[in-house]
Amino acid sequence: MPLDNGVTPVNSSTKLDRRFSIAPMMEWTTSDYRVFVRTLSKNTLLYTEMVTTGALLQGNHPERFLRYDGCEHPIALQLGGSDAIALGKCAKMAEQAGFDEVNLNVGCPSDRVQNSLIGACLMAHPDKVKDAMRAMQDSCTIPVTIKHRIGLDDQEEYSVVRDFVGDIATTGVKTFIVHARNAILAGLSPKENREIPPLKYHYVHQLKKDFPELEIIINGGIKTVEECQEQLAHVDGVMVGREAYHNPWILSQVDNVLFGGQPLVHDRYRGARSFRSLC
Ligand SMILES: Cc1cc2nc3c(=O)[nH]c(=O)nc-3n(C[C@H](O)[C@H](O)[C@H](O)COP(=O)(O)O)c2cc1C
Repeated sequence: MPLDNGVTPVNSSTKLDRRFSIAPMMEWTTSDYRVFVRTLSKNTLLYTEMVTTGALLQGNHPERFLRYDGCEHPIALQLGGSDAIALGKCAKMAEQAGFDEVNLNVGCPSDRVQNSLIGACLMAHPDKVKDAMRAMQDSCTIPVTIKHRIGLDDQEEYSVVRDFVGDIATTGVKTFIVHARNAILAGLSPKENREIPPLKYHYVHQLKKDFPELEIIINGGIKTVEECQEQLAHVDGVMVGREAYHNPWILSQVDNVLFGGQPLVHDRYRGARSFRSLC
């Protein structure tokens, strides 16, 4: 769908450029927020909130989790689950619904999801993750990606994430989105798990050196477009979460500074008018 500013967002037939993306965030990266982002940046890759396989396969009206506006392309669906057969079915649903990518959440530390073997706890079960990634890739032709942490609890060594990535890559997955801190599975809330475990960007940079053939996307604590530029000297892409929600104006620089194109908006007033025209 063309926007008021005359720009048609990058569509699904174009190869995905993951230089800059907005992180999946429950209750934040909703369709209305994502449409708003499109008034500021056409190139940013958008992720949905996590949708569990249970919601898609057993819930009422699963189609509501797959709904988005055409202007949201390029857009990835993030799945939560651990059962390979269910994840395969959901990956197929993602493709049929027109998503440009399907991603597995292996980074969420919440107790609620751990009980269903969803999220970061899966880093302790690489064989399950591999089965899931194979099933997803076998069921669809869109890219299948994974978002994970650098380790669990007191696993401090770089070799933990190196071995995890090396193992999962044997399934053919090429894109790894790495939240550059550990997940502490007991004793910290999800919010604390985004703040307390220290960021170790150098681990993610080292992954790119050790696996140059893989696409490595860094996530965690990045707040400015200048910081994104610095990161892009080491990795293939940057994923920003909270700052893109709390301070969306930074997104107005992304198309120009990170993708080398024309900025969509030059001032906040026009940006706001462009959004209003969509509502
Ligand atoms: C409100 C909120 C909800 C989140 N929900 C998800 C989610 O559904 N799936 C996921 O992989 N990460 C989720 N995250 C984590 C973010 O994707 C991201 O990894 C984290 O916020 C670190 O990036 P940042 O420092 O740029 O915010 C969530 C974060 C926030 C703040």
